[in-house]
Amino acid sequence: MKSITLKGSNKLQGSVNVSGSKNAALPCISAALLTKKPVLLRNIPNISDVKMMIAILKDIGVDITYSRKTKEMRINSNDFDSELPKITSTIRGSTLLLGSILAINKEVIFYNFGGCDIGNRPIDIHLKGFRKLGVKSIKNKNKNVLESEKLKANKIKLRFPSVGATENLILIASKATGKTIIKNAAVEPEILDLINMLKKMGVTINCYLKTRQIMIKGMQNLKGVKHKIIPDRIEAGTYIIAGAITKSNIVIKSIISTYLTKFLEIIKKIGIEINVYDNKIHIFGKDNTTLNPIKVETNIYPGFPTDLQPILMTLLTQINGTSIIKENVWKDRFHHVKELKKMGAEITINKNIARIHGHTPLKGTNVICTNIRGGAALLIAAIKAKGESKLLNPKHILRGYENIFFKLKNLGVNLES
Ligand code: UD1
Repeated sequence: MKSITLKGSNKLQGSVNVSGSKNAALPCISAALLTKKPVLLRNIPNISDVKMMIAILKDIGVDITYSRKTKEMRINSNDFDSELPKITSTIRGSTLLLGSILAINKEVIFYNFGGCDIGNRPIDIHLKGFRKLGVKSIKNKNKNVLESEKLKANKIKLRFPSVGATENLILIASKATGKTIIKNAAVEPEILDLINMLKKMGVTINCYLKTRQIMIKGMQNLKGVKHKIIPDRIEAGTYIIAGAITKSNIVIKSIISTYLTKFLEIIKKIGIEINVYDNKIHIFGKDNTTLNPIKVETNIYPGFPTDLQPILMTLLTQINGTSIIKENVWKDRFHHVKELKKMGAEITINKNIARIHGHTPLKGTNVICTNIRGGAALLIAAIKAKGESKLLNPKHILRGYENIFFKLKNLGVNLES
């Protein structure tokens, strides 16, 4: 799919079901490598990042099947190679295979990792944590080689609560003898989902949310498991903003609303009327409601999620006054701004701070998606814009949103793909 065309400015109606979380599915798929017993994962979203992960695992010899219909994935990982294929450069989530492959094969060989165009994506925190657990890096001209012959539990303090590093360290520590403690760990809901899966596999893990500490007692033989992936809170937030910006009356279903607490606090502060239930959210869009500009900072969980920043920004372009967004997680995650400006938005960027001067009418035009959430921000802008928009490179959006174009059509968006 090279582009999608849509005509904006109509109201949405009806309801939409949120799919399984991309960011929970990827580490849970990696966790399946830690056992030789069968693993059944449910609610795995049919998105291209998952397809890439399947391709990578098949390449290294893992027996893996996925049903698009039932969203069930079955994994039997008896033996697999330690060398990751070069396609890992297209999906950042494949970094999450390092911990599991090291834990089982005692070595991993990899090239550079890819992913979204949202800024510099180093893995130094992962590597420093691995070293604390006894992993050694071996110099090799064009490949990265890590060895974990003498895996040992340890205390690790992360310099920043990286989501991926926390997950990789939990994965590898699940097989290390003794007690590993990760301090200053990330505690995103997706990490808690991974922990719940590993607990069912027999690993003892305690997560202390307030102190951000995770304690893992590794074990040698992990059990097989059936595990259902949590709903995608970022997808839920995206549809909430689609409803809010079009002043529509819609229901977002199959969610866990507590994972969205900070986001919903901001949405309410802006003045959007919503009813929040445990597993659904009802948005009451009204033409005459006055919405308020806002100051918001992205942060690690339970702060405002960085992945919803570009999408919130689109909404803020439609609110009178100046709103301010400070991006604290990916400091230059503003690649979507240039394209939003083409549609009529007035936004100024100074380092990691964006000032959004609303309310500027959005007009349909051709825009280019360069990453998942930036692409979603442009899609929402196009739904609101007057006239026709063409989104080039919509494949980026499909990396993280299951059936999004179909779901939007069902809500009444005039879209051709
Ligand atoms: C995960 C999510 C991504 C989300 C991000 C932050 C997945 C597959 N992706 O990405 O959608 O935007 O969390 O919530 O779950 N950093 C370092 N060194 C490292 C690791 C990270 O400096 O070794 C920095 C990054 O450059 C970034 C910040 O830490 O500025 C956050 O990164 P991290 O939490 O690791 O994000 P990911 O796990 O890659």
